[in-house]
Formats: sequence, structure tokens, C-alpha cells
Amino acid sequence: MTGINKPVVVLGATGQQGGSVAAALRAGGWAVRAVVRDPSGHRARSLSASGVEIVRGDLGDPESLRAAFSDAHGVFSVQPNSGQAGADVTNEDEVRFGTTVADIAGRCGVAHLVYSSTVAAGPTPTGVAHLDTKSGIEAHVRNLNIAGTIIRPATFMEILLLPGMGLDRGHLSFLMRPDQAMQFIAVRDIGRIVAAVFDSPDRYAGRTVEIAGDTLTGNALAEHLTQASGRQISYSRLPATLLAQDEILGKTVALVDSGRLVGNADLDALRAEFPFLLRFDRWLAGHGAGLLQEALRPTDTGIALR
Ligand SMILES: NC(=O)c1ccc[n+]([C@@H]2O[C@H](COP(=O)([O-])OP(=O)(O)OC[C@H]3O[C@@H](n4cnc5c(N)ncnc54)[C@H](OP(=O)(O)O)[C@@H]3O)[C@@H](O)[C@H]2O)c1
Repeated sequence: MTGINKPVVVLGATGQQGGSVAAALRAGGWAVRAVVRDPSGHRARSLSASGVEIVRGDLGDPESLRAAFSDAHGVFSVQPNSGQAGADVTNEDEVRFGTTVADIAGRCGVAHLVYSSTVAAGPTPTGVAHLDTKSGIEAHVRNLNIAGTIIRPATFMEILLLPGMGLDRGHLSFLMRPDQAMQFIAVRDIGRIVAAVFDSPDRYAGRTVEIAGDTLTGNALAEHLTQASGRQISYSRLPATLLAQDEILGKTVALVDSGRLVGNADLDALRAEFPFLLRFDRWLAGHGAGLLQEALRPTDTGIALR
């Protein structure tokens, strides 16, 4: 038990990161309040069944955030991003949502704000607008008079198993060259780390923490996927023709080559602090197993990355 009766408000709790944070906080004995757009949706109902308090709200509706934050101990802040498949937000929306959450958390006297950013964020622009949104929100959080922790997750392991990444045809295409290393994290571990951050505010307030669970080359990804699936899986970088046609994908790959997007987390230090962190093979054998089976099923979906 935490000894704190006030809830932690979790945004995006019906999504990947917020769902993982809500589960880890509940497992740690925290009271959790989820702000959802549709309380009758199946994800909201399953959150409610797990003991999460559900309140209706919207990142675009500051009054609903004020109501949700008014008696809260903490807030976990994550926003949708225009780079996600099917996202219905602009870059301006994301920045407005993220800064508004931080402002209202400050005004409501929230004791601890945890903001989830990205590994590519930093003081200089990347040139990819949907990544630079997070650098702007980070700067805003740091300038507020509130105890804040910024986490910068590496690329999610889950993204590698999206339908349409080619695994059903025995092949994975991603951003790095076959011999180039990149860091990844399991979404489950983001929640566990955020729960640890709320558990130890004195240790984490004011810090920006880059988080990852494994460092893998494209060839290593293929080896792990071959082992886990029992099928031969090969790897290549996304086709040059696609990178030439799609400006954002081309720039994203350039950020991998420049080192900006690959992640530089100190995995040994992180593992000492967060011993539960999963490597890719352990994740594939556990939480990722169902996603892998799904990804191996024949599909006519095109490449999942934009
Ligand atoms: N993929 C990666 O490798 C990676 C790495 C680092 C960072 N990120 C970042 O992670 C973020 C997305 O996190 P995620 O993957 O956890 O998101 P997700 O699974 O796509 O879920 C998005 C969540 O945001 C909620 N939401 C959307 N619009 C809202 C609004 N107007 N008001 C209230 N809630 C709203 C959704 O609720 P509904 O159920 O109502 O739709 C859902 O709970 C993005 O900013 C992305 O850039 C991704």
C-alpha cells in the first residue's frame, strides 16, 4: 500500500501506455482515476472492473481535466500523436493537450506529474514535427513550479509485431540497417517504471529518464523472431523506394542513422534500478507471444509504418 489516499489520474488509460500505467499503479496499491472519452466503451468498462475510477473527460476540454485533477495526488500525462496510424490529432493539438495538462496539474496543486515523451526529444529540433512536439511539452513541464518527472521511452517492442510489418511473409522491415542497433521497450515496463516513479517522488522529481529494455540490431531481431516463432524470419531496412517517397519516413530513418532515434539508455543502470525490465526474447515468450501469433497470420495489409 502507498499510504496516500488521493488518486493518481491516468490519461490515455484506454491506450497502450496509460493502460500499462493504470495496471501497474493498481498492482502497487494506488487509487487510480482514468479520464476517458467514452465511459461505456469496453476498455473503460474493463478498467472499471479492475478497480479504476472512471471519469468522463477530454484532453481538449480543460474543464473536464480540472474536475478530474482537483483532489488528485498525481497525474500521468500522455497524448496521442499525429505520427500514429489513424490518429485524429494535429501536432498543434498534441502540444496544446500536453501543456494544458501540465498547467492544470500545477494549478490544482498536484504533487507529482509524470509526462511520457520520446527518446528523440531534446533541446534541438529533429526536423520531424511529430517528434518535436514532445520537446516543446517537456520544456513547458520543466518551466512550471511543479514536481515533474519526464520519461523518454524507446521505441515500443509492440510496434515490431503490428499487422503489416511483413512477419506473415517471413520478413521484418524496420528503420535500422541489419547491423545497426536500436533500443526498444515493452509497453508493460513503461507502466511499471511510472509506478516506481510515483512510489519514490524524492528520487525522481525533476529528472528526465530515458527508458529501454533491450538494444537490438535488425539481424538480432530476426534471430529472436525466428527462435520464438519456429519459422525463418529475415530482416531488412524499409525499402529505399518507400523512404524516398515518404518524406517523414525518410527523415525518421535519417534520425536513426544520426543516432538521435536509436536510444542511448544505460541498460545496466536501468536494470539495477528496475530489475523487471524485459529483454526482447523474454517479452516474446510472455506478453508478446499472442501478438507474435497474430503477426504471423496471413494478411493483405501494407507496410504498417507511415
Ligand atoms: N510507438 C512508439 O514506439 C512510441 C515510442 C515513444 C513514444 N510514443 C508516443 O506514445 C504516445 C501514444 O501513446 P500510446 O501508444 O499509449 O497511445 P494509444 O495506445 O494510441 O492510446 C491513445 C490514448 O489517448 C486517448 N485519447 C486520444 N485522444 C484523446 C482526447 N482528445 N482526450 C482524452 N483522451 C484521448 C485514447 O482514448 P480513446 O480510448 O478515447 O481513444 C487512448 O487512451 C504518442 O504520443 C507517441 O508519439 C510512441
